[in-house]
Amino acid sequence: MNDILSNSQCCFVCTPGGLASGSIRVPGDKSISHRSIILSSIAEGTSHISGFLQGEDSLNTMRSFQAMGVDIKNLNDQIVVKGVGLYGLKPPVSSLDMGNSGTAMRLLLGVLVGQSFDTTLVGDDSLSGRPMNRVINPLLAMQAKIDSDIDGTAPLIVYGKSALTAIDYYLPMASAQVKSCILLAGLYAKGETVVTEPAPTRDHTERMLRGFGCQVETNGAVIKLRGDQTLLANDIEVPADISSAAFFLVAGSISPPGTELKLTHVGINPTRTGVIDILKLMGADITITNQRDVGGEPVANLIVRSAKLKGIVIPEALVPLSIDEFPVLFIAAACAEGQTTLTGAEELRVKESDRIKVMADGLLTLGVNAVPTLDGILIQGGSIGGGEVESHGDHRIAMAFSVASIVATDTITINNCVNVNTSFPGFIDLANDTGMKVRIL
Ligand code: S3P
Repeated sequence: MNDILSNSQCCFVCTPGGLASGSIRVPGDKSISHRSIILSSIAEGTSHISGFLQGEDSLNTMRSFQAMGVDIKNLNDQIVVKGVGLYGLKPPVSSLDMGNSGTAMRLLLGVLVGQSFDTTLVGDDSLSGRPMNRVINPLLAMQAKIDSDIDGTAPLIVYGKSALTAIDYYLPMASAQVKSCILLAGLYAKGETVVTEPAPTRDHTERMLRGFGCQVETNGAVIKLRGDQTLLANDIEVPADISSAAFFLVAGSISPPGTELKLTHVGINPTRTGVIDILKLMGADITITNQRDVGGEPVANLIVRSAKLKGIVIPEALVPLSIDEFPVLFIAAACAEGQTTLTGAEELRVKESDRIKVMADGLLTLGVNAVPTLDGILIQGGSIGGGEVESHGDHRIAMAFSVASIVATDTITINNCVNVNTSFPGFIDLANDTGMKVRIL
């Protein structure tokens, strides 16, 4: 057991020649975990959550609601939340720290603008540089009162308000975080809140709101929700995170011929499965088995067998459906025969790091021909060398380069990997269980 990422400077040292085989279950879905705490906290009654992601991001959401007086017991295999209703939250004694989590900050903002007390939201260096005007602007249109830094970044101060006004809002970008923030604020607004999406994004908020007895109408790209609805406690089973499974879908694909890996109980909500579609277009061998419904979310086992990958032009329609999986998809592209082209993905520049730049820099260090563009990247597949790459504290960059080591010709050292804890506690142990050769320095 060496998987305790406590040293903020921790590096991953990845030895070439491993593989990914066997059967594993990756940790719980991060998006669903955040939402499970938020909705059960503002519901009436006691909810039980299983499969919750015990990662720093979702734990920050949990700590925030505890700081606002919600009785939440973290029993590890189960979370018990005694909901306080829409208006039962209490003023926290200090600012709420969202750490590295954009989802926590943007979704909580939607709830906090409906409260009668003031709150301050802070985050780490990465989060403090990420754009918040995308949520602040629609919330101001709902009559919320929020202060931010001059460039629309955290810290954010939310001023207590007695009532919000519903809006009809066209999202300027395909963002589930912005959509969810507005819908949550809509619970506190007079009238019907309407959000229109430019492209489908993950719909966990809408599904879970319905699970809590709330009426949410979805008609194509338009989502409608009436204010002042009561949420009723609900038990939630969080599936394994397809965004974490993605590292192993690529690892299994680039493993030596004959390798097979099974990923169990993975959430396959159609708004999240772009990674499977893209890998299949590249020639990956992925089978979906035992598909079932778990609490309103589709779940299945995924079986991935090693395959020869080819470069493709990634369809832009798949970009929002695989937005978190591009770091590891770039590794797949680097292993594929021919060129892979990504366009329409400018959102990658405002994630935990500028994922286009940081991945391109790392790939170039490893000898891969990668050309960043304004809204995407061109990657020429070929061999991957060794070297020292920077993750810039971005969990998904760190894990993506770990996967690359399977086919690398020399050791890959990845710097600043502590934030892997935000989404995938236990990554190193699980990766080694499958046959990868990753250790912490
Ligand atoms: C998330 C939505 C996505 C994703 C993030 C989680 C969510 O962000 O990148 O990791 O849980 O709603 P955007 O909606 O801003 O693209």
